[in-house]
Amino acid sequence: MKVGMGTGSTAEIFIRLLGQKVRDGLRIRATATSARSAGVAKGAGIKVEDLDQIGRLDVTVDGADEIGPNRDLIKGGGGALLREKIVAAASERFVVIADESKLVDILGTYPLPLEIIPFGKLDTQSRICAELRSCGFSDFTTTWRQRGERQFVTDEGNAILDLHLGTIRDVGELDSLLNCIPGVVETGLFVNMASECAVGARDGRVVIC
Ligand code: A5P
Repeated sequence: MKVGMGTGSTAEIFIRLLGQKVRDGLRIRATATSARSAGVAKGAGIKVEDLDQIGRLDVTVDGADEIGPNRDLIKGGGGALLREKIVAAASERFVVIADESKLVDILGTYPLPLEIIPFGKLDTQSRICAELRSCGFSDFTTTWRQRGERQFVTDEGNAILDLHLGTIRDVGELDSLLNCIPGVVETGLFVNMASECAVGARDGRVVIC
C-alpha cells in the first residue's frame, strides 16, 4: 500500500507502530505530512518518499484537534495543516485517529489555524477579521502562532494565524470564505474529508465513527 503519515503526538504513535511492521517485513511506500513526521518515520525504519514520487495514496492516517459532527475536523495544532490537507486530498481513504477528548458537538473551541503568506500578513489579518465580522462573528480574537520568542514558521515558510472563534456553526461556509481571502494559503478546517475516525476511549475500547 501507499501510505500517508500524519503529524502530531497521536500520528507519531501510529508511525512508530508502522515502523515496527516494516521492520517485520511489511512492504509499503510512504510519504509524510511534515519534516518532523518524516524524521520520526526514518528513525522507525520507514523510507520516506515525496508525494510526487508516489502519486495517489491508498490511505493516510492522521490525528485531529477536534472531531465534530459529520467527521468535520479542526487540524493544524502542530502547524502542518497545509501538507496534511494536500496529503489527505491525495488519499483514497483518510483515517483519523484520536482519543475521545477530541470529540465535540460543535467545532470552534480549539483555535482554528490558518496558514498565511508572510508578505503583507498584517493586512491579510485585517481582512480576515473584517470577513469574520461580516459573517456574524462578533466575539473573537486572532493570534500569530509563536515558537518560543519567535514567530512559528511552517514547513512551507509561512506563518500561522490562530482564530479563537468559540463556535463555528457553518464549517463549509467559513472554510470557503477564508480560502477566498488573498494571503490565506489554507485553513485547518477539514470539511467532508475524513473517511472514518477511530476514537480511543479510556477503557481501551475503540469506536469507529
Ligand atoms: C498537526 O498539524 C495537527 O493537525 C495534528 O494532527 C493535531 O494537532 C493532533 O495532534 P495530537 O495528536 O498531538 O493531539
